[in-house]
Amino acid sequence: MDLYHPSEEFVARANVPRGDAHRQLMERAESDPEGFWGDLAESELHWFRKWDRVLDDAEAPFYRWFTGGRTNMSYNCLDRHCQTWRKNRAAIVWEGEPGEQRVLTYQELLRSVQRFASVLKSRGYGAGDRAILYMPMVPELPVAMLACARLGITHSVVFAGFSAEALKTRILDLEAGVVITADGGWRRGKVVPLKPAVDEALEECPSVRNVIVYRRVGNEVEMKAGRDAWWHDVDAGASEECPAAELDAEHPLYVLYTSGTTGKPKGIVHTTGGYQLQVSMAMRWVFDIKDEDTYWCAADVGWVTGHSYIVYGPLLVGTTTVMYEGAPDFPEPDRFWRIADKYKVNVFYTSPTAIRAFIKFGEDYPGRHDLSSLRLLGSVGEPINPSAWEWYHRVIGGGRCPIVDTWWQTETGSIMVSPLPGSTPLKPGSGTFALPGIDADVVDMEGNSVPPGGEGYLVVRKPWPSMFRTLWGDPGRFIQTYWSQIPGIYFVGDAARRDEDGYLWVLGRVDDVMNVSGHRLSTAELESTLVRHDSVAEAAVVGMPDELTGQAVIAFVTPIQGYDPTDELAAELREWVAQQIGKFARPKQIRFSDALPKTRSGKIMRRLLREIVTTQTVSGDITTLEDLSVINRLGAQQDEE
Ligand code: WT7
Repeated sequence: MDLYHPSEEFVARANVPRGDAHRQLMERAESDPEGFWGDLAESELHWFRKWDRVLDDAEAPFYRWFTGGRTNMSYNCLDRHCQTWRKNRAAIVWEGEPGEQRVLTYQELLRSVQRFASVLKSRGYGAGDRAILYMPMVPELPVAMLACARLGITHSVVFAGFSAEALKTRILDLEAGVVITADGGWRRGKVVPLKPAVDEALEECPSVRNVIVYRRVGNEVEMKAGRDAWWHDVDAGASEECPAAELDAEHPLYVLYTSGTTGKPKGIVHTTGGYQLQVSMAMRWVFDIKDEDTYWCAADVGWVTGHSYIVYGPLLVGTTTVMYEGAPDFPEPDRFWRIADKYKVNVFYTSPTAIRAFIKFGEDYPGRHDLSSLRLLGSVGEPINPSAWEWYHRVIGGGRCPIVDTWWQTETGSIMVSPLPGSTPLKPGSGTFALPGIDADVVDMEGNSVPPGGEGYLVVRKPWPSMFRTLWGDPGRFIQTYWSQIPGIYFVGDAARRDEDGYLWVLGRVDDVMNVSGHRLSTAELESTLVRHDSVAEAAVVGMPDELTGQAVIAFVTPIQGYDPTDELAAELREWVAQQIGKFARPKQIRFSDALPKTRSGKIMRRLLREIVTTQTVSGDITTLEDLSVINRLGAQQDEE
C-alpha cells in the first residue's frame, strides 16, 4: 500500500516534526507518564493552585488527575488570552444559515460570558448545580457553556435534534435547575422550533426553576410567567464583571449523554483539569495549530466533537474557531467550500458521512471555490473508507494536506489515536498510532496483545487525563460496562486490527450499538421505543451497511394481533421513533414479520438479522435457533456450507 508522507514544507513548520522531536515526545511519555503530563499541565494552563499529585489511582478505576489543583476552564479559554496580544483576536467566527456573520473577539466573548454568568449567579446558580443547554448552533451556546464553566455549574448540552421526551429524561436524570434554550433554529431554510419541546418536557420536571430563551428566529413562543425570561432582557443590565471560580481540578465540567447497550442513555461525566490539558495537547499535536490559523470543525456542539473541538480545545489554545449554524447543502451543496474560501480556513475537521455526501454531490461544488488556504484535514466519528479518504485528500486537500483520522469517543473526551501530521506516514483508512501518553492496544478476551496482523478488541491500558470519571448517578454501570470485560483495563467497545507495521485499523463496534452518520444509536433504546407503541408486540433493530451514513437502522417488527402490517403503519412507527428520540434516529426501513429468529431460551438472534439485511442469506451455526422456518419467512436463503 502506498504511504502518504507530509511535504517538506509541512514538516518544516510542524509543531511535532518527524524524527527526534516525535521520538523524544513518545519516549518521555512512556518512561515517565506523570512527569510528562505534569510538565505539560504547568506550561499549558493556568492554575490558581498547583496540584499535589498528577495521578491518583487509589480508587481505580475512579482515577483522579491533578488532585488538589485549582483551575477554571473559562479562565483558561478567555481571561488569560485577554492579558496578551490575543485580546482582539477573533475567538469565534460565526455564520448563520441565512447568511449573517458575527465575529467575537476574545475580549467580546469574555464580556458576554461574564454578563451571562452574572445572570446565572444572580438567580442563585453556582458550583454543584446543573444546567441543560438545548440550543441551535449560535455563539450564545458557547457563551452559555463558558458561563456555566466559569461558575462551576455542570452543563449538559442536549443536541437540538433530540425530542421533548429525550430532553425530559436528561433533565430528570440530572435534576437540573435551569434550562437555557432558544425560540428555534434554522435548518435548510426552515425554522426548527425548540421552545415547545422544552415546555412539553418541563411539565414533568419539578427541579427546573428558570428557563432562559435566546431569540434566534423570531417565531411565536409561549413564555411562562415566573419561570421563563428572554436572554436579551436578562442580559441587558447584567454585570460585566463575574470572576472565574477557583474550582477543584476534578470539578465536573459537563455531562454528555450517549447511547449504550441498554434502553437508558449513559451520562458521561467529564471533569476540568485533565480534560483541559488533553484537548489542548490535541489542538497542538494533531491539528498542528499556529497563531495565524483559522480552524473549522464542522460538527455540532451537541456532540462531544463540538464540546472538545469547536468550543474548548480551540479557545484553550487561543485560535479562531469557525462555527456554522446550518446544513452543508443549503442553499446549495457548495456551502462548506464557500465558507472555507470566505474565511480562509486552514484546518478543517469533519466526518466520513459528510465526505461521502460531498462525493455524491460531485467535484463541481468544491471546484467553484479557492481552497488553497487549507493545509490540514481531519476526519472523525466512524471508519473512513480508503476511497473516500483518497477523494478528500485529492479534491478538498488538493493533494497537499495531510489527513488526521482521529479515533476517540464521548468517554475518552479527547483524541486518542491519530497521526501526527508532520511526522506519521499515512495509510488511508487507518488511525495509525496512539498519541503520546496514550496506551492503546488490541487484545484478545484474556487481555493478551494480538500479534501483528491480528484482530481483537481495542483497549486502553493506562488512565489518560481527559478520561470520563464515572456515569452520572450510576458508578456500578461505569465499572461493569467499561472495566470488567477485561479486568482493570478500559474496554472501548470497538474491534480493531493491528497490521504488520503496527498501524491501527478501527473496524467498528462489538456491542449492540450502531453508528449512523457518526452518531451513536443503541439497539436496545430503539427497540424499547418501538415496543412502547400500541401496535408493536416485538421489535429487533440492526444496522445495515449504508453507502452514505455508514450504517442505517433497520427495524424488524412483529405487530400485535389485529394490527395490519401496512405501509401506513410503517410510516407511523418511523414517526414515532423520531418523536420519541429524535429525527436522526428514525429507522430507514421497517420490516414486518410474524416472528423473529430466537434461541430456545428466547433471545433474539440479531446476528442472523444482521446477516439477512446485509447478504439476504444466513450462514454459520443456526442450531440454537428455535424455529428454523422463521429464516425463510424473513425472505432469506440458508447458506449450505
Ligand atoms: C465511536 C464513538 C469521537 C467523536 C464522535 C463519535 C467510532 C469514532 C472513529 C474513527 C473509526 C471511529 C468508534 C467509537 N469512531 N472515531 N476515526 N475511526 N471509528 O463519538 O458517539 O462517542 O462514538 O465512534 O466506534 O467507539 P461517539
